[in-house]
Amino acid sequence: MKQTNVLLIVGADSSIGQALAARLRSGGKPVLETTRRRETLTETRIFLDLTQEKEIENWNPPAQIETAYLCAAVTSLAQCNQDSMQSAEVNVRNTISLARNLISRGTFVVFLSTNQVYDGSIPFRKADDRVCPQNEYGRQKAEAEKHLLALGNLVSIARFTKVLNHNVPLFQRWIQELRNNRPIHPFLDMVMAPVPLFFAVDVLSRLAELRLPGIIQVSGEQDITYDRVAYYITRQIGANLELVKPIKSKEAGLHPEFVPLHTTLDTTQLRVQLGLETPNVWSVIDLIVSKNY
Ligand SMILES: NC(=O)c1ccc[n+]([C@@H]2O[C@H](COP(=O)([O-])OP(=O)(O)OC[C@H]3O[C@@H](n4cnc5c(N)ncnc54)[C@H](OP(=O)(O)O)[C@@H]3O)[C@@H](O)[C@H]2O)c1
Repeated sequence: MKQTNVLLIVGADSSIGQALAARLRSGGKPVLETTRRRETLTETRIFLDLTQEKEIENWNPPAQIETAYLCAAVTSLAQCNQDSMQSAEVNVRNTISLARNLISRGTFVVFLSTNQVYDGSIPFRKADDRVCPQNEYGRQKAEAEKHLLALGNLVSIARFTKVLNHNVPLFQRWIQELRNNRPIHPFLDMVMAPVPLFFAVDVLSRLAELRLPGIIQVSGEQDITYDRVAYYITRQIGANLELVKPIKSKEAGLHPEFVPLHTTLDTTQLRVQLGLETPNVWSVIDLIVSKNY
């Protein structure tokens, strides 16, 4: 790739990475993607495996990278728990090593983080509140954040709550079941503060334009329980409300560390520094219903 001012997406097969690549390209930006799927390599899709420590340390990108988005991660909470050593290698050690490598070349690095760096005991955590993760995924993200922030002004941390596209398998399944007059069992004690994927991508794109260092939090304006979402969807599609049979997450065998009481984050900096306001949480659900019904 001969161009300069290239935008690099590390982990371009992630749901956010894919949408981001499409958005940046549609804006005319030169985009370089990394993947670990060898069968999909092209000149603008190159191989990078975040388990390969030595390769990451010595990696020489084939273009001058203006901004790099670090989207690749072990994102399954269960997987992080089960294999904390290997997931930490990807989510912490090699992510930091890659960021260090890129920063030494003058690249601005955007790291995608999560509300799970907090324990969920209180709503609307401020960006500078001390982190207090309660599960391994959150601990790894918090650890990576700490080391990345210490690398200086070429690092931006974008903390997201739940990022939803229209094709969320759980909600698609619910709609299918309701259509077939079958019951669904949403959690009544699990919450989310969703942000739409298109908005997450807006934020990431803007961060690179502004090269804004520090932490930016991106969150829906309120927490909503999964059973409220289920009732909302049921009403929107005109199905029978009695088909919604809420259950407690414990009944489904979920450990409390995966079920925070609150997930919202304070978004003052998003408004003040980026001039962006997260869309209403129900508009995210409307989008899902409209695309699937
Ligand atoms: N989605 C959300 O709601 C949300 C919320 C907060 C923060 N985030 C953060 O945003 C980022 C993207 O999230 P996402 O949900 O879009 O992710 P995702 O769809 O779960 O995808 C994760 C990607 O990481 C790649 N990956 C995993 N291990 C790798 C390795 N060793 N080397 C190279 N690539 C590897 C995977 O590659 P394969 O496709 O080949 O398996 C996959 O494409 C993550 O850092 C996540 O923690 C996401």
